[in-house]
Amino acid sequence: MIGFTMEYMKRTTTCGALRAIDAGKTVILNGWVHRKRDHGGISFINLRDRYGVTQVVVDDDAPEALKKAASELKYEYCVALRGVVRPRPDSMVNRDMPTGEVEVKAEEIQVLTRCETLPFMIDERSDAKEELRLKYRYLDLRSFSMQDKIRLRHEVAFAVREYLAGKGFYEIETPTFIRSTPEGARDYLVPSRLYPGKFYALPQSPQLYKQILMVAGMDKYFQLARCYRDEDARGDRQPEFTQIDIEMSFVKRDDVLELVEGMMGHVFRKTLGVELPARFRRIAYDDAIELYGTDKPDLRFGMEMKDFGDLAAKSGFQAFKDALTEGASRQAAAKAKGVTQEGGAVKALLVPGKADYSRKQIEELEAAAKVYRAKGMAWMKVSAEGRLEGGAAKFFAGEAAPAGLEAEVIAYLGAKPGDLILMVADAKRRVACASLGAVRSKLGKDLGLCDPKRFEFAWIVDFPMFEWNEDENKWDTAHHMFTMPQERYHPTLESDPGAVKGDLYDLVMNGFELASGSIRIHDPELQKRIFSIVGFDPAEAEKKFGFLTEAFKYGPPPHGGIAPGLDRLVMLMAGETSIKEVIAFPKNSFAVSPMDESPNEVDEKQLKELSIRIVEGPGGAKTVEIQK
Ligand code: AMO
Repeated sequence: MIGFTMEYMKRTTTCGALRAIDAGKTVILNGWVHRKRDHGGISFINLRDRYGVTQVVVDDDAPEALKKAASELKYEYCVALRGVVRPRPDSMVNRDMPTGEVEVKAEEIQVLTRCETLPFMIDERSDAKEELRLKYRYLDLRSFSMQDKIRLRHEVAFAVREYLAGKGFYEIETPTFIRSTPEGARDYLVPSRLYPGKFYALPQSPQLYKQILMVAGMDKYFQLARCYRDEDARGDRQPEFTQIDIEMSFVKRDDVLELVEGMMGHVFRKTLGVELPARFRRIAYDDAIELYGTDKPDLRFGMEMKDFGDLAAKSGFQAFKDALTEGASRQAAAKAKGVTQEGGAVKALLVPGKADYSRKQIEELEAAAKVYRAKGMAWMKVSAEGRLEGGAAKFFAGEAAPAGLEAEVIAYLGAKPGDLILMVADAKRRVACASLGAVRSKLGKDLGLCDPKRFEFAWIVDFPMFEWNEDENKWDTAHHMFTMPQERYHPTLESDPGAVKGDLYDLVMNGFELASGSIRIHDPELQKRIFSIVGFDPAEAEKKFGFLTEAFKYGPPPHGGIAPGLDRLVMLMAGETSIKEVIAFPKNSFAVSPMDESPNEVDEKQLKELSIRIVEGPGGAKTVEIQK
């Protein structure tokens, strides 16, 4: 009755299927021993598979051999089990289990395979360290919580395909061995055996291929595309990840946005039963920075920042005034050269009812601001009498302050007794906004305003086309070089790059960037102008993107697209904050897979075939050389 056999009892049903109506049936279950309890002479075995858990009972009066077989079962043994379904006594019905009305009275137990002592309990992994979970990922994935997330991912991918296919999109695969082209992050490279010294790159995204598919007349393309980026780890990043990559011909910006709104609506309805608004709000990039200090605001709560510059200028707060003066003179100097540059700013944030925050709590918030290069964060409180007090209040209220300024501050901020006011000033507007924005984000979390079951989408539009690269003293494109500048800026692209807005858009949700896209340049002349503004000389551009410019000589259609990150989307839908939770086999934060221990060393023979040699330098540092 116990023992290994290839002729195992194959299941007649799953561990999630049995209900009261099945009472009396003889069934065979296959699954894993999830839990086991012995009560006197009776054993209860909870058998688990992907579909659920069923309670199996070995009764007191069972034959000795069956009792012995039951007693030998251990956690996660894989077993086959035959028995008769019977209703549980009323007092034993488990309403929390879909199969909780019944149990199976065991008649035969067959151990299919045994299991060693577990590194952690299945479904009780909350205290298992991530490294251990990744090393034994196959055990981690057995838990219902992980299986739910993998199911959700599958359902999301399926709903995406269903929606896009229904809209006439073709799913087209593009190569994963491509030419290395600059795209923001570092490439992963694959050495070519046939051409020593040459490399394929793994795509950071299928960007150029999808644009070329538009030249090829494919009109509507999508792909669940694997992308590879060698960049620093973050909770919402993986070195390899998946994009829902989309490109469309003969479209304007709003066509792309509406398609994605429809797609998200379909996906959320089909997989979570959640109804999203038909249209997501659209926020100009500049407004997002001013109100939230970030281009990926969490809109599950308000607490918008206000510009405090005019009131600060009236006060006697020298540090604030200096920041404004310094910013203004830098801005004026730039303007004299015809260039748009930001000035300084003082930003204020009203935190309702938090005047009782301790100095320590305020210092913790200040630390969040300093991460974004704020020199400090000023604060004041509104007393029960509605007066400003503490911290920086002396500059805005009291005898030394200009008459009426206190009332003006209170009215402008809409402050009430018991509120806390936080302020950051900087000669660079962006630093003031980003720093206080980080404080806003921290407060959102600290005050429990980020309900994981709420999904607040928004489009961020009207992004600047170029960003000033302070390290290299040059302009870079804010998205990628193929983004169309908005038409009204075409005449002034070269003379004032800082003022140019691009026809690009981000989809954000709950403080994360879910997707980026743009309308692309289809005019080769305009493309050349962009290359030249970011300091790509024509010969270099020709070398790196020659195949795209060549393709664009043959009647490219106007086109645009977008790429939502599938991992990030599923992560947020699952209420998680790490994308590792929704990827079956992710890398750890050091780009290592603890299960298969990749990256790993390879045989000398393999290296030789690739004409590669590993050279050990002083101190054991390794470099890779190509053998000529
Ligand atoms: P972008 O680089 O903004 O745009 O990427 C688009 C989306 O992909 C996801 N994403 C990532 N997810 C996990 N790990 C990463 N390392 C990672 N990097 C990006 C994010 C992001 O919003 N070709 C353009 C798109 C286009 O213009 O159509 C692109 O790749 O969700």
